[in-house]
This record gives sequence, C-alpha cells and structure tokens, in this order.
Amino acid sequence: MARTLFRNASVVFPDQIRIASVLVEDGRILDPDAGHVNADETVACDGLHLMPGVIDDQVHFREPGLEHKEDLAAASRACAAGGVTSFLEMPNTKPPAVTLEGVRAKESLAAQKSLVNYGFYIGATPDNAAELAAATDVPGIKIFIGSSTGNLLVDVQAALERIFAETTLPICAHCEDETTVRANAERLQGTTDIADHSRIRDRQAAVISTRRAIDLATRHQHRFHVLHVSTADELPLIRDARPWVTAEVCPHHLFFNVDDYPRLGSRVQMNPSIKTAEDNAALFDALLDGTVQVIATDHAPHTLEEKSQPYPASPSGLPAVENSLALMLDQVTQDRCTLQQVASWMCDAPARVWGIVGKGRIQTGYDADLVLVDLQREKTIHDAEQWTKSKWSPWDGVTLRGWPVATYLAGRKVFDADQGMDESVRGGKLKFDHSRGGFWNTPDGIGVG
Ligand code: DOR
Repeated sequence: MARTLFRNASVVFPDQIRIASVLVEDGRILDPDAGHVNADETVACDGLHLMPGVIDDQVHFREPGLEHKEDLAAASRACAAGGVTSFLEMPNTKPPAVTLEGVRAKESLAAQKSLVNYGFYIGATPDNAAELAAATDVPGIKIFIGSSTGNLLVDVQAALERIFAETTLPICAHCEDETTVRANAERLQGTTDIADHSRIRDRQAAVISTRRAIDLATRHQHRFHVLHVSTADELPLIRDARPWVTAEVCPHHLFFNVDDYPRLGSRVQMNPSIKTAEDNAALFDALLDGTVQVIATDHAPHTLEEKSQPYPASPSGLPAVENSLALMLDQVTQDRCTLQQVASWMCDAPARVWGIVGKGRIQTGYDADLVLVDLQREKTIHDAEQWTKSKWSPWDGVTLRGWPVATYLAGRKVFDADQGMDESVRGGKLKFDHSRGGFWNTPDGIGVG
C-alpha cells in the first residue's frame, strides 16, 4: 500500500482553506488532515496551495478525424500542465460520436493515449433518440441546437421534444438560434469584417435558443446544462429555471469582448461569439452569486493557418485548457474571487453536474487527483510553449500571477512545472452515477464509489 503525504499545504477544502497534511493511500485520500505521519513519499508543500484537480466539462480534442488540429496525447498533456485532471469531450469529431459504439471507440483511444481521466458525451442527431435513450456510462447527451464546427444540428422542435421526453441522461446544449444566425448571415453576406461575427451570432441568437432549451428542460423535468453562456440576458432565464438547470461560462466570455477584435482578430472568433464588456462583468457576477455554477473552457483548437483565412472562412474556436486554471488563479490574486470559489466552479460543481463519482473535493475517500498551485508564481503565456498541438493561445503575451506547479492523478505526479511531464502516466475512464441527482441534489459533494 503506497502512501504519499502532502505535508503542510494550504489545503482548499469546500468550507475553508487551512494548513494541513493530506495523506494519500493507493490513489485515494485516506486522511485530509493527517498530521506528520510516516509515508513512503513526502511532498513538502510549504507556501503552496493544494486543491482538487480541475474537471473541464467542455473540450473538443479532435480525435478521431481532425488530428491535424489536436489529438488526445497532446491535449491531455495540456490538461496536465494546466491542472486539469479530468475532461469531458464533445461529440463533433470525425465521425461524430452519435452512437454508443462511437463513444466506446473514443474511450479506447483515450485509454491508450490520455495522461488524464476522460469521459465522452454522446451527440444527438434528429433521429437517434433511441440510441440516446439506451446509452449508459456516459456523462450525458450533447445537442447542438445551433450549429457550430462540424455538421451536428438538431433544430426541429419535434426532434428536440423527443430527446427531452424519451431519454434520461442529463443533457447539455450549444444554444444559438439557427434561424436568427442564418438571417443575420444573409443580411451581412459578403462581409470579411471579423467583428461581424458578433453581429451574425448576436445576443438575440443566444437568448432565443437558451430560452427554448430551458423551456424544454422545465416542461419535461429533465436535467439540463447550458454550455458557454455569453450574454447578461440569458442569466435571468437560468436563475428562474432551478432545479432543472445548471450553467457554465468560459474564460473567453469572461475576459474577451468585441473591443478585442482589432487586436486579436480570429483568435477570439468562437461560437457563441464574444459580446460586450458589460456582458463580461455580468457573467463574472453570475459566478459570484451562484447563478452560474461551472467554469469550462470549450477548448476548440484550429491551426493558425486555418485561423488566418479571411473571415468568414476562418473557423470558430480557441485552445484554453492549459491556461484556464491560471486565468482564474490570477483573478484570485487580484481579489476578484477566492480560491475556494475557483475550486467550486472548476472542480466540485462539474463533478456534481455530471455525477462524476469520487471527484472534485479533498475529502476522505475521494480520488487523489490534486493540483499544487503557487499563487506567487508569475509566468507569461507564449504560443510556442503551449502543449496543445495547435501551438497558440489567445492569451499569448499575457502575464498571469498564480500557476499550477504540480499535477497528481490518483496520487501519482503527472506534471511538474520544473521537471516536466511524466508521459508514462495514463488516466482512467470516469465513473458516472446520475442517480445521485446532479448538482442541486448533492450540496455535500458527489460522494465516493
Ligand atoms: O467556437 C466553437 N468551436 N464553438 C463550439 O461550440 C464548437 C467549437 C469547435 O468544435 O470548433
């Protein structure tokens, strides 16, 4: 029985941060407040914070079929470097993961290649409700109610009604109203102005579609997660829809807005589009007041060559998985939020929304997926140093204070900021238990297996 002691860390517990020594045995937390007991290995954590590993519940890792943009090996290294110990991946690969067989094929690829833990959503099509209803062992169902990269789209009301009525897995959706987006695109046909991306995928498109999805979820009493909320106007709709609805925001919708197009061009082109500085502020406030529960990245790399085509040929999406935690730690160092809140938004809440057993907290019996963070460490993000295969970041040139310095998977170190990556580590398939009732029914954490 291998024991590791994380000695004298500022441990981020759900209710407080305090100096403690965390004892890990065989990959699990044996005692979160062990004192100075003997162990096979001792990690001196003086001056550092120990927090649960981040769970990113919205990533596009492009494998199979789009490996020129990203692949599971590179993306999972990016996760490890960023303090992300588990990811949930979206179905718009090539072929799309719209059958259970397709999901299982992705899991086999991840078992061979992924340095961190993984789960894969099953994607909805207009006519695969039966397949979705029979699916097990997945985080949930992803619906593109508005189209984005790839050809997944379910826009017909009858098909949406069927999915919400006939399935039981939690559902998440990309909400941008297809009719509105197409009408705007028609009106602005011929444009090459990148700023028109936010006029085509406008505020109304997001609001109409989120309202439609929330209406489906509440009428069918079906658990539903609004992905990447981008406007202040969606927030009251989400707030009024408890207990069926949870929501998430992405760092790019918190920190970029339309004023960034002249400087960053297609690097900040994504779906839903970026909006205004007022939306940035409202989304941050919505995290603070609990309207929005989760932060995820929507990590969606394209090559810089693809991105450099003139709009609208430039594809939508940006890589972020290795910088999301640091972006939020930087907010902690600026006193905009606390480290406990960051751990809630990035670790505990995603585990509860998707029923991920044994994850998201530093508590007895939970898996020892842990991140050591140094709130004093300053580092500048550079394209060339990114682990993502796409080798760029919209935050290139930005200096952040507060960085993960070591990442542990089941007690085993996978990344060290000074010593590098242990590429022999492999993650495991996440275990989902939807019977625990989702976010609103698990205030004390998702619990262990
Ligand atoms: O900008 C985006 N790109 N938004 C999405 O929802 C999909 C993603 C992609 O897969 O490229």
